[in-house]
Amino acid sequence: MPFTTYVFDAYGTLFDVAAAAREASEEPGRDALAKVWQKLASDWRLKQLQYTWLRAVTGDHTDFWDVTQDGLDWAMEASGLDDPELRERLLQLYWELSAYREVPEMLGRLKAAGHTTAILSNGSPDMLNGAVQSAGLGEVLDDVLSVQDVGVFKPHASVYDLVGKRFGCAKSDVLFVSSNGWDAGCATGYGFTTAWVNRAAEPVDRLPWVPKHILSNLTTIPELA
Ligand code: LAC
Repeated sequence: MPFTTYVFDAYGTLFDVAAAAREASEEPGRDALAKVWQKLASDWRLKQLQYTWLRAVTGDHTDFWDVTQDGLDWAMEASGLDDPELRERLLQLYWELSAYREVPEMLGRLKAAGHTTAILSNGSPDMLNGAVQSAGLGEVLDDVLSVQDVGVFKPHASVYDLVGKRFGCAKSDVLFVSSNGWDAGCATGYGFTTAWVNRAAEPVDRLPWVPKHILSNLTTIPELA
């Protein structure tokens, strides 16, 4: 059976999370950031995700915006950046991340073929809507599903349950796409068919579940079965 419903992780999958640090580093007067922006972007992302897992395990849920700020604070301190104005600038850029180049056309192809398209993300609705609008993806997405509705971060099963609840589809109708190996792996364990977008050619996460498809970008998503 072909998929009816294509569900995408947001940060790192549709939106380039390194873009905030990279774009800020190209602005005038950002010499200190220019030297460390790649480490900053990597630390920021890793800490943000670690905090989501720890929040999920302890049951102490908070907004994704909070863990995004906490991760940035850790990353800036680790890189010796004590600059409140830069902090504000990086956070502002996080609300307007660029989408990867192939995203609009790929989503447009899915919509033209009559499929349902959605985001399923840890992001808060406000953050996600900001990113969707600034990337111009509003017309090619049917909905944006946020963990805010269940009060726990991925990979809790209740997050993946949001897809069936919203669209009334079976797990077998869904192709779930994520650039996070752990998200694609855990969604496989949940029962979705999955595609891991492995842009950086990283090793497969050592989890009990291996994504069905491993891709280097999103271009071929409409052709997967
Ligand atoms: C998300 C993070 C995990 O969008 O990338 O849910």
